[in-house]
Amino acid sequence: MSYLLSLSLSGLSPGKSQAVLVTLDGNNWVETSQERLREGRNVPPASRSASVRPMKPPTLFSEEEIADQVAILAAEIDEAYADADQLVLIGVLKGSFIFLADLARKLTIPHRVEFIAVSSYGAKESDVADSVRLLMDVRHPIVGEHVLLVEDIVDTGHTLAYLKRLLEARNPASLKTATMLHKPDRTEEEVDIDFLGFTIPDVWVVGYGLDYAERYRTLPYIGELPPEMR
Ligand code: PRP
Repeated sequence: MSYLLSLSLSGLSPGKSQAVLVTLDGNNWVETSQERLREGRNVPPASRSASVRPMKPPTLFSEEEIADQVAILAAEIDEAYADADQLVLIGVLKGSFIFLADLARKLTIPHRVEFIAVSSYGAKESDVADSVRLLMDVRHPIVGEHVLLVEDIVDTGHTLAYLKRLLEARNPASLKTATMLHKPDRTEEEVDIDFLGFTIPDVWVVGYGLDYAERYRTLPYIGELPPEMR
């Protein structure tokens, strides 16, 4: 396990200070108390320490709010595809894997699951079309299938727009999109979203599949990551 150490000194009274050890434990930044440091028990595994205080990103959407919204989306999707033989859910890795897992388990219509992976680069206006590249394709053909692309978030829109172009060319029976989050303030490329969880402002969100430098992905809720936690 690796630790990122920073010793912060906060003034108590003139001439005094309190040492706080800040470590990264899984998804959480934790503080270890001065007492533990004095006792030489610095750098304990945070989860085993009685005196650690988790520093979690503030909640934007709680587990309960997410579960309620997933149930609503699943009901809408069930209804929209009531006459389809089968729906193909395509999750966009990595971010969608938790949303897809929850959504798929709420659906009552027949469905199968595929994954696709892309990488995105900072898009300049001149090379928007090249800003997304395919890393891993779906395993089975989708010709003649009803396809639902599942995303965790639509930010600039480049990823979903690219994937729609890519998959439309394979002649599915239909192609729709679902995303848990949408940041309309960041739109650079318009793309239709057929099933939407929440619209959010332009804030950095983590959890429920969304990461910051691969951290926080498995937080069970959606949090807003303040600048001091980046
Ligand atoms: C995120 C997210 C979407 C994409 C949306 O993926 O999962 O796929 O960005 O951004 P856009 O609308 O600006 O194209 P990311 O590149 O962070 O990869 P990850 O899912 O593997 O974390």
